[in-house]
Amino acid sequence: MNVPGLVQLDEWQSNYAHRVETMRTSAVRDLFAAASRTDIISLSGGMPNINRLPLDQVSQVVARAVLDEGVAALQYGDTSGREQTKQLVVKLMSDLSIAITPADVTITTGAQQALDLLGKTFINKGDVVITEGPTYLGALQAFSAYQPQIVTIPLDEEGMRTELLAAELERLGSRGAKFIYTVPNFQNPAGVTMSLRRRKHLLELARHYEILVVEDDPYGRLRYRGEPLPSLRSLDDHVVYLGTVSKVFAPGLRTGWVIAPHPVLARLNMVKQGTDLCGSALNQVIVEHYFNDIDWRANLNLLIEQYRLRRDAMLAALDELFPPEARWTHPEGGFFVWVTLPDYVDTTQMLPLALERGVTFVPGDGCYPAGSSLGKNAMRIAFCYEEPENLREAIGRLAAVIEKRLELCRIFVSAGLLKAS
Ligand SMILES: Cc1ncc(COP(=O)(O)O)c(C=O)c1O
Repeated sequence: MNVPGLVQLDEWQSNYAHRVETMRTSAVRDLFAAASRTDIISLSGGMPNINRLPLDQVSQVVARAVLDEGVAALQYGDTSGREQTKQLVVKLMSDLSIAITPADVTITTGAQQALDLLGKTFINKGDVVITEGPTYLGALQAFSAYQPQIVTIPLDEEGMRTELLAAELERLGSRGAKFIYTVPNFQNPAGVTMSLRRRKHLLELARHYEILVVEDDPYGRLRYRGEPLPSLRSLDDHVVYLGTVSKVFAPGLRTGWVIAPHPVLARLNMVKQGTDLCGSALNQVIVEHYFNDIDWRANLNLLIEQYRLRRDAMLAALDELFPPEARWTHPEGGFFVWVTLPDYVDTTQMLPLALERGVTFVPGDGCYPAGSSLGKNAMRIAFCYEEPENLREAIGRLAAVIEKRLELCRIFVSAGLLKAS
């Protein structure tokens, strides 16, 4: 019986697999769940702003999906996805100079499923997986179910610091890691983009040490400044590439894809069978119709315009309102800015104060593997979801919280209770 106010004892505690012991639910998410106030401006969510999607067009696409495909849209299908969806992916990828055929593609339930399938297929307990530091929280969650040792390589404004990767690979030796996971474009959470020089260096190292590279590219088409760079996969066809419609159409359709060398793809498909038999045929048909039948590029351009304004508004507000002790990245696309504060500040401790002030962010340590002491003085702030005026207001609120925290920390430092960096 549930007694309100009493913490439930878990009678199945001893039955759970060891792998779930190392998984963590985000304390931050729990905190957000508790905060249902409508005056809160969220800089924490990475939700695309799809409010301006033309719903009349989308509803026609959905209707046509059912009418044109009939029961095929409602039936089980091939584990690797519908042939027509794979053909669409081939077409979309040719924009990025990635030359493939449908046989190189598996359709997944979002890129997130591809991350899980990669973990399930490649990782034994204790295996080394290399990621950027910080990295995408969802990748950490997907991989950590398989209990790897996650080694993070620091990044800067040019993306993963490949000179540090070289040193790590030298230490680990040939095939010393199962794969290198990277988000080269407008990285989540740091917002930075890997330079061409580093892309080439990364691929050189991966070839030399015979290590698979996984390129996760949900934001590549969301560029607001500067020129696009070649994808890793377009430079080397050994790369496993993950794509998704989540940020260019609709995340609710949970449709993504993985492009991989054939033997790898065969294993991923086998593993996928046990996971979901097949993805949603209906969602795949909707995606096909959206990208084949309507002017999706025009819709995407409108979205890009919105995001560009938001990015500019956030960077301008940061310049104007944030204290001089703070540093932040300057993304040319995507959704996120990464803010770094002096070492002695702990952003997780700051979060309740920020909530009180009506603003949320993601504390940086969640973007590092569990047990790491890195990222404590950092935060991810997202500009994708809120209107420019709200972003300015939110940055002002956050600046006030940071100022207060810095003041307190300075008192602690001068009293010898905290070490200055
Ligand atoms: C880097 C990265 N990879 C993968 C995903 C998951 O994408 P999907 O919605 O396709 O599962 C996200 C979502 O935010 C992401 O930021």
